[in-house]
Amino acid sequence: AEHVKDDLSSILFTKEQIAEKVSELAQRIDHDYQGRDVLLVGVLKGAVPIMADLMRQLDGQYPMDWMAVSSYGSGTKSSGVVRILKDLDTDLHGKDVLIVEDVIDSGLTLSWLRTNLESRGTSSVEICALLRKPEAMKTSIDVRYVGWDIPNEFVVGYGLDFAEQYRNLDCIATLAPHVYE
Ligand code: PRP
Ligand code: MN
Ligand code: MG
Repeated sequence: AEHVKDDLSSILFTKEQIAEKVSELAQRIDHDYQGRDVLLVGVLKGAVPIMADLMRQLDGQYPMDWMAVSSYGSGTKSSGVVRILKDLDTDLHGKDVLIVEDVIDSGLTLSWLRTNLESRGTSSVEICALLRKPEAMKTSIDVRYVGWDIPNEFVVGYGLDFAEQYRNLDCIATLAPHVYE
């Protein structure tokens, strides 16, 4: 494999900054969910690193489950119509669900997902996203736990991909122009 760090133009967040932010989020979540019956729901595949790190910073009991979703239509992922490729294994009745995401872009995936999960008899559905792009959002969505708001730029690493590449970077970075050209 090529050295992926040669393809980066600037690093937005280092692995140390990410670890500190994830730890802060975990403390808030532990505080807010004391005594509750919580299920962490990760959205494949981008949420894998944040889920793996966040869950190990949590002190309470937090089972996890996963969904894989895909937008309907040809290529454009902003239709807001979502297809479930892999559903949860867990019955959500009475559960306090915390959706774990790497990034909120248009917000359409999460907006649809929250409504879908709420229809299954949950007690509550909240969202934890490491990154959010306010300028890209096409729907207003209430996100209780946000790591950072970032400009509407293409970023990779820590789960975020460009054509399925760069997910394994330990930092979050912008891509160098030569990668696109
Ligand atoms: C990305 C990202 C979020 C979603 C955000 O996932 O991980 O899940 O897009 O976009 P939205 O706010 O515009 O709906 P993607 O569909 O690329 O799948 P991946 O996680 O497998 O990369
Ligand atoms: Mn994703
Ligand atoms: Mg992706």
